[in-house]
Amino acid sequence: MENRPPHLERVRAPPSGGDVNPIGTARTLVSCDVRTAFKMGIARLREADVPSFTLAAELLLLHALGRNRTWLYAHPEEIIAEGDAQRYFDLIARRAAGEPTQHLTGKQEFWGLEFEVTPDVLIPRPETEHVIEVALDRLALRELRAGRPQKSTGEGLQIADIGTGSGCIAIALAKELPAANFYGTDISRAALAVAQRNAVRHAVPDRIHFIEANLISPVGAQYIAPQPGKVANSAPPSVVHQSPITSHQSPLFDLIASNPPYIGRREAPSLAREVRDHEPHTALFGGEEGYELYADLITQSAQHLKAGGILVLELGHNSLEAVQPLLDASAWTNVGVTNDLAGIPRVLAAERL
Ligand SMILES: C[S@@+](CC[C@H](N)C(=O)[O-])C[C@H]1O[C@@H](n2cnc3c(N)ncnc32)[C@H](O)[C@@H]1O
Repeated sequence: MENRPPHLERVRAPPSGGDVNPIGTARTLVSCDVRTAFKMGIARLREADVPSFTLAAELLLLHALGRNRTWLYAHPEEIIAEGDAQRYFDLIARRAAGEPTQHLTGKQEFWGLEFEVTPDVLIPRPETEHVIEVALDRLALRELRAGRPQKSTGEGLQIADIGTGSGCIAIALAKELPAANFYGTDISRAALAVAQRNAVRHAVPDRIHFIEANLISPVGAQYIAPQPGKVANSAPPSVVHQSPITSHQSPLFDLIASNPPYIGRREAPSLAREVRDHEPHTALFGGEEGYELYADLITQSAQHLKAGGILVLELGHNSLEAVQPLLDASAWTNVGVTNDLAGIPRVLAAERL
């Protein structure tokens, strides 16, 4: 018998009848070692023009095996159980067909925290971490000016995250400011259910009030009360209270942060298929040009910020020119722009006079 390397011993020959799975391998080709499976996954994703194909194959293999990176690279010869291998190759086939890796693994890291993601929410992006940085810097500066320690717990602060999606901005800030109180709004109830689960996952559900709202104006005054310790299920959250944003004690915020939808519909054809075909269009498109929502967002923010309150907005790659003039000097001061790592003006911040 021919002397074959061990990783191929377990790989059975494809049947002649063409029983082929979507990765292009025979359905019976499901038992192999870690290195072989990884290489086959990489090859299939490269062939399908998947961006960052090696990383995607690695994340999907880790997910299918329920292992971490250290284990993966320490056990290249380990034979993968048939069920795990089949699950992995099914994931590779779905990724090759365009589904985002994060929809297949159900998670994405943001600000060092792991967030649940589903097709109902935007996958948190690394550039949005600049919103967190700018918000924390501006709050620290405010403390400094008031003669208080720069590193505050956020005690007494009311903070809003408009278009909260997965809840990543509100939750990241809630972890940094353990005594602050938060409101996360979204027009999508399905997104709010994911945000609520993420708040529970990160042990901050009692400090974040999720509200179904058109920007800052609640839709029918519906409001999801914080539910300390209660794990929400995947059903849309129930409406339980009148929104505090419209109540007589309407909070005036110390900080409003937002990453609104800012892609232009006319840009849709040039978007990656992972984005255009799989992420929610309510999270992507701000209008025909993309920057249409900012005018209302800035007007409403001016009404809901305390004097000296801070507004922090994420910008689209071409939004600055249209958005910065909306911060007129009669209402706003200390306007600043922060570039992302690619040099694109990404965050616009200002203080309410
Ligand atoms: C670009 S995503 C941002 C999600 C999340 N904050 C993040 O940074 O990953 C925009 C979010 O705004 C929500 N949205 C769109 N239009 C809205 C509106 N008029 N009022 C409130 N939320 C809206 C979308 O449903 C989506 O969750």
